[in-house]
Amino acid sequence: MDFETLVATRRSTRGFKKEPVSKELMAEIIAIAKRAPSSMNTQPWNFHAISGEPLELIRAGNTERMLAGASVDREIKMSGHGYQGVHRERQIEIAVQLFEAMGIERNDKERRQDWVMRGFRQFDAPVSVVITIDRELADDTVAHFDCGAATYGLVLAATSKGLGCVINGQGIMQSSVVREHANIPEDEVIMTCVAMGWPDDEFVANHVVSRRTPIEDDVRFVGFDA
Ligand SMILES: Cc1cc2nc3c(=O)[nH]c(=O)nc-3n(C[C@H](O)[C@H](O)[C@H](O)COP(=O)(O)O)c2cc1C
Repeated sequence: MDFETLVATRRSTRGFKKEPVSKELMAEIIAIAKRAPSSMNTQPWNFHAISGEPLELIRAGNTERMLAGASVDREIKMSGHGYQGVHRERQIEIAVQLFEAMGIERNDKERRQDWVMRGFRQFDAPVSVVITIDRELADDTVAHFDCGAATYGLVLAATSKGLGCVINGQGIMQSSVVREHANIPEDEVIMTCVAMGWPDDEFVANHVVSRRTPIEDDVRFVGFDA
């Protein structure tokens, strides 16, 4: 697949086949992701590929905490007041697209809750790659940038091998659960996780195409000939 096709056809995958993914394939994919550029080649990232029993324990722990109404326990910093303005509008737009595809009505609280809980279970994917950065650089936003580059590299590498992925903030919303069962070292900070596996093509939400703003909205050209 050429690069443009790879980028254009990738979608977040939220329905997976039950088939496992081999350690060899995961190692191959992570090695590709690690070719990402980083500031001064610092490579501040770490990848923890989790499957099997530890991943089941993470799913169970996340589910238990979220159902108990536990407060958010993330290590990655967020604004704390949720998205506002255009960002909120875009957040709602993709949720509407996904719910429409799944046939989940606006007032169907049970199915909406079920969808949210699927997210906390990392969409029942056979693998979750937890991405951390070295704690020493936790407040260095350049390191966050490096981590994002590596994460997208991971997603593209997995996609090129036929896997489906979703970068899944919900999966690390209870970071202490992930830390415990994945045995994350103390000198690392959990940034995100990527749920991945063989995509279930029957799962309609896997075919949702998220929108992007037109190029005029957020791109400027300066100094070019007209
Ligand atoms: C940092 C980050 C966190 C995300 N967390 C979630 C999540 O918790 N649940 C989810 O369903 N999708 C999550 N996504 C996927 C986004 O919703 C998705 O990338 C976006 O809607 C664009 O859709 P696309 O990936 O299909 O192009 C996340 C993406 C990123 C980059």
